[in-house]
Amino acid sequence: MMYSEKVMDHFMNPRNVGEIEDASGVGTVGNAKCGDIMKIFLKIEDGVVLDAKFKTFGCGAAVATSSMATELIKGKTIQEALEITNKAVMEALDGLPPVKVHCSCLAEEALHAALWDYAEKNGIVIEGLEKPVNDISEHEHLPEEE
Ligand code: FES
Repeated sequence: MMYSEKVMDHFMNPRNVGEIEDASGVGTVGNAKCGDIMKIFLKIEDGVVLDAKFKTFGCGAAVATSSMATELIKGKTIQEALEITNKAVMEALDGLPPVKVHCSCLAEEALHAALWDYAEKNGIVIEGLEKPVNDISEHEHLPEEE
């Protein structure tokens, strides 16, 4: 089996699919190389992420990592939310095949983009948060085709 049971579960039954209408922050990130796009909505109050939803136009691993990333971020403070890296998402999913690691980077970047949007809207600076990119393929290299 190429994918863990958890990946299959979050792909077949993704959690938190949808939109938050009055979201505190929205982040959209794509990867021009594979064409996948992820959009994450966060509801933040008093520095705590109360709710998270996503819409992902992408591969199964992108769906599973968005599902897990939104699950992980709920209930976290903003500083704790920054610790949800693509590695943390992959670990929570019991791993991803190497060729699919970049899909989890999309999830990390989309979370960061939503936090960045929240910070901008509220005129605050989130320490340790770097300005996210719209297209993660500019910053990484997918495995070359042989
Ligand atoms: Fe692009 Fe998975 S193949 S995010």
